[in-house]
Order: sequence, then C-alpha cells, then structure tokens
Amino acid sequence: MSVITTPHINAEADAFGKTVLMPGDPLRSKFIAENYLENAQLVNNIRGIQGYTGTYKGKKISVMASGMGMPTIGIYSYELFNFFRVENIMRIGSTGAIQEKVKVRDIVIGMGACTDSNYASQYKLSGTFAPIASYPLMRAAIEQAEKVNAAFHVGNILSSDTFYSDNKDANEGWKKMGVLCIEMEAAALYMNAARCGKNALAILTVSDSLVTGEETTAEERQNSFTQMMEIALNTAVSID
Ligand code: HPA
Repeated sequence: MSVITTPHINAEADAFGKTVLMPGDPLRSKFIAENYLENAQLVNNIRGIQGYTGTYKGKKISVMASGMGMPTIGIYSYELFNFFRVENIMRIGSTGAIQEKVKVRDIVIGMGACTDSNYASQYKLSGTFAPIASYPLMRAAIEQAEKVNAAFHVGNILSSDTFYSDNKDANEGWKKMGVLCIEMEAAALYMNAARCGKNALAILTVSDSLVTGEETTAEERQNSFTQMMEIALNTAVSID
C-alpha cells in the first residue's frame, strides 16, 4: 500500500477504517484509542491532529480529531472522504443547550444542522441547503442510545461560527425555531458528506446550558463523554 500525503494527513491509503469517530480534541482521540480500541496504531499526527486505527468488537475503526470549527472539520472530513475512502464520519463532541428540556449531561443526536456560516455558498445553490444527518447512521445511533437507556434528544442543532458572539440575542431566534443546542462543526461535516455521497452524524453531550447557566464539571463531562463514545462505537459496529 502506498502512502498518501494530503496537506493535512500523511497516512497509508488503507490506514483508516470505513468509519471514523471524530472528537474535536486530539487528546480525546488518544483517550478513545487507548481505552477502547484493540491494537490501536497512530496513523496521523500532522499538527497534533492525532488519528488512530484499531479494532472494536473485531471491526476496524478509526478515531481522529477534527479541531474546533467548521473550517477544520471541513478540511479533515473532505480529505478522509475523498482521499482515504472513508464512508462514515461520526462527530462526537460537546454542545450548549438552548432549550429548557435539554439538560446538561443529556445526549443530542443532530438530525439537522442549521448554521450561521457561509460554508454552503461554495455550492452555488439557488436556495438554502438543509444539512442533515445520514438516516441509516442516525437510526443505528438511536437504537444504541435506547439500548443503554441514555437520556437523549433527536432534532435540529445549530453549528455556529462563533463561541463568543457579539450578538447576545443571537440564540433567541434559533430557540424559537426549536433548535436544541449549539456546537461548531456538524453543518460543514453534513455538507461534505452530502457532496461526497457519504454518511455523517453528530452525537453530542450537553456540557453547559445557555438557558440556566449550568455547567458540567470535568468529571461529569468525562462520564457523559464515555456514554456518547460507547454509543458511537457500537453504532459503528452495527452498520456495514
Ligand atoms: N457554543 C458553541 N459550542 C459549544 C458550546 C456553546 O455554547 N458549548 C459547548 N460547545
């Protein structure tokens, strides 16, 4: 097998499994590899964006960090889909709730991803594109979440370009439209998957509530992250 060198990934052509889990944080990628994958090998470390491939319940699975924001997940998911023949990317990350019913530590499965970003303008569409999750991936993830009795929601999320917005009322409109929570990556991932004819899903844990101001402790974040990660890993095993 030959090595493929893109501007951001340097790995063997077959280095990645068909499914890649994508946390934002490179240390999370390492944590998953060390704690869940068997025979995990580091397959990419350009810019410290750690990517590992190993097996989970006998299936070849990879985990690689995305970094924060739509431009970075846009780059990594594009290269994985187009140059490394990856079929499924599941983002696993954190999110801030904007509805009362969405509590800290809950899990949100992003059925659709609204965005305030201009990412879709590159496609030169004559209207507004609706970035959505892959239905088979989403269905499989819901099954896994039900199996472990997780507290989870399925619905629309917002992928925002700003964590620190100058517009303090920005969330109100999205809240009125029933959007559950805010994160910063899913919409670009869903658009890349759509453009490439591949599959994507975002599974998120609620780390803070923008409604109540409640936040999780580092330990709570770790625990809810573990449940989300296990749902994602078992989803990866249950699909083709
Ligand atoms: N905004 C964007 N991304 C986030 C947030 C937030 O409030 N909380 C966790 N990820």
